[in-house]
Amino acid sequence: MPVRLNLRKAFPALLALIAATAGCRIDMHIQPYYRTMAESDFFSDHRSARMPVDGTVARGDLRADSYFYTAKIGTATGDYMPFPATKEVLDRGRERYNIICAPCHGRVGNGNGFIPTRGFRQPPSFHIDRLRKVPVGYFFDVDTHGYGVMPDYAAQVAPRDRWCIAAYIRALQLSQNATGADIPAGQKIPSPAPQFRDIGTGATLPVAEAPSASTEGEPK
Ligand code: HEC
Repeated sequence: MPVRLNLRKAFPALLALIAATAGCRIDMHIQPYYRTMAESDFFSDHRSARMPVDGTVARGDLRADSYFYTAKIGTATGDYMPFPATKEVLDRGRERYNIICAPCHGRVGNGNGFIPTRGFRQPPSFHIDRLRKVPVGYFFDVDTHGYGVMPDYAAQVAPRDRWCIAAYIRALQLSQNATGADIPAGQKIPSPAPQFRDIGTGATLPVAEAPSASTEGEPK
């Protein structure tokens, strides 16, 4: 015959059992501890928390590669990438640039973004002499700290992406200022450079015009 447990009758016994076993662990439940920032008279400085040992670094925040995070060598801005500017890096740079920078700076970097048409100050073109001569780290630096009325994008753009954008701006500069002399000797241009009609808002790419008969074949 199965043993039937009458809960109503067993209840006081269960209660006693719980009380007795819980009682055994009472000193584990009530432990001496300090609330955060509470004062203590145990240590001579009256802080309950100890200061971290000198030189302690928060995990994941060592930032030992300072050039990667600052683009600076001492106080000077560096003119090299902290990692190779591969096609993937430039693709990533283009994607980020088109999302974050192009609304103001325009897709080709001429400062013809959409936002300046609504009253924000027009940024300078990246293709002026002064900005063509700045070291590549300068773009990282402006992105990290802002410049004039331009806010910084340190919170929105991770350091690696800031470098990708910097590399892409260099590519834009090259693209807008390339001459026949930039073509390696003996190499032919497979097709004439497209003629663009800039429709001016920068929110969209300039429209390519249909190549006319005279521009077909070898570039002029
Ligand atoms: C909200 C609009 C806006 C966005 C978005 C923006 N910029 Fe700018 N940027 C400006 C303006 C305006 C200036 C000129 C600031 C001034 O002269 O006060 C400027 C200037 C610059 C300059 C030139 C500094 C100089 O020496 O003249 C660089 C380089 C630059 N921006 C890079 C970037 C990059 C890279 C991004 C994207 C991560 C970006 N900007 C996003 C508005 C913007």
